[in-house]
Amino acid sequence: MTINDRGTWGSRFGFVLAAAGSAVGLGNIWGFPTKVGQNGGGAFVLVYLACVIFICLPILIAELAIGRHTKSDPVKAYARLRPGTRWWMAGALGVAAGFGVLSFYSVIAGWALAYIWFSATGSVSSGALESATFFTEFTARAPINLMLTFVMLAATAGVLLGGIRSGIERVSKFLMPVLALLLVGLAIRAVTLPGAAEGVAYYLKPDFSKVMNFGTLNAALGQAFFSLSLGLGTMLVYGSYLTRREGIAKAAVMVVVVDTCLALLAGFMIFPSGFSIPGFDPSSQGPGLIFVVLPRLFASLPGGQFFGAAFFILLTLAALTSAISLLEVPVAHFIDSHGWGRSRAVLVVMMATFALAIPSVLASGANDFFTSLPVIGLDFLTVMITVWNDFALPLGGLFTAVFVGYVWRIDNALEELLAEQAWFPGRQFWGLLIRYACPAAIFLIIFGTLQSLIA
Ligand code: PFF
Repeated sequence: MTINDRGTWGSRFGFVLAAAGSAVGLGNIWGFPTKVGQNGGGAFVLVYLACVIFICLPILIAELAIGRHTKSDPVKAYARLRPGTRWWMAGALGVAAGFGVLSFYSVIAGWALAYIWFSATGSVSSGALESATFFTEFTARAPINLMLTFVMLAATAGVLLGGIRSGIERVSKFLMPVLALLLVGLAIRAVTLPGAAEGVAYYLKPDFSKVMNFGTLNAALGQAFFSLSLGLGTMLVYGSYLTRREGIAKAAVMVVVVDTCLALLAGFMIFPSGFSIPGFDPSSQGPGLIFVVLPRLFASLPGGQFFGAAFFILLTLAALTSAISLLEVPVAHFIDSHGWGRSRAVLVVMMATFALAIPSVLASGANDFFTSLPVIGLDFLTVMITVWNDFALPLGGLFTAVFVGYVWRIDNALEELLAEQAWFPGRQFWGLLIRYACPAAIFLIIFGTLQSLIA
């Protein structure tokens, strides 16, 4: 396959929509509120915003620039810019992370899929079982969860097999505004529930004593990388399908604004609903937060079964557009670097990801297959989330910043970024962030966390 056969985004905004489709997903609606809950509320939100603006936005621009310049998958992109060096390994880390992240992402996407049914039929909020118990018992049922994970992966693969880039673009154009509207509506309902004020206060009032430790900074940075699909080459690959007509900086700002607004909105939906339940403790909630809290919100709404089902349909579709972008990274790698055909790459990558997902299914919620093993003793799903989100993605971002800042160099990157007189105010500041602030902050946070883990 030559460079010119790879294809480009169809419409003018196709790229922004597809990139926003990749960015907006479980990370916004499930991951963000979960992390806020585990890390002390409002102050975490501020740290998160700082990570997004000063670390992630500059790296998003850098990833897109490498992608558009090289028109290759991450491994080949680095190799092309610095042949004969080990820089290709930075791309290889991204390809591995694509498998790793998708292996747990598809499990959670499977839960979202099942909750469409549970909400529509009212079984989750029937009152026979508490929503928390319902969730724990549901995730412990391995066969059904394996099936759901497989269905989500197969749907993702099906989309990529069909080469439906214009399909993704069209679907995203319709889906993103509907998702935003639904979130606004549900957030309004949530903040008007009795007892909601406590939740709003928890979400908005910063208590800095809770965030001033490396673990929390690390969680904020990892979450920001995850939410913006950074650090594993997704945006590099999406950038590689970009033409020089589309200004990178402007597109990047749009993606960041959409992604961040939707995450913040999800918090306004979750915390007021949570706090309206007597005895709710946000910090004790794990990955099940939205699956436990939201069914209660829906139960309090007239037509809640309908809204609940609609919400989980959108969540599943938002997860799908993100899963597509995750699978596309290893797929693009096998096509670009190993000359495989698209169908073979999609099928092999999908089956390998499914195999990797099995332990996450077997060891989440109440299913204690791994938790009962003396050596592991941990929820495998949580381990996967920590390894990939909190470490692999920021590390990938560190490599991108060092590569663009010191190896490819700012001037060459700017030449790509300013092609066709593209809009890029603050380009000098961007160079400074990429060369100094991003590497220093990521390095400090990752190694500070490692040190506190060892100590
Ligand atoms: N950004 C997606 C979300 O917030 O759900 C998840 C994701 C997609 C992470 C693609 C990383 C990635 F490369």
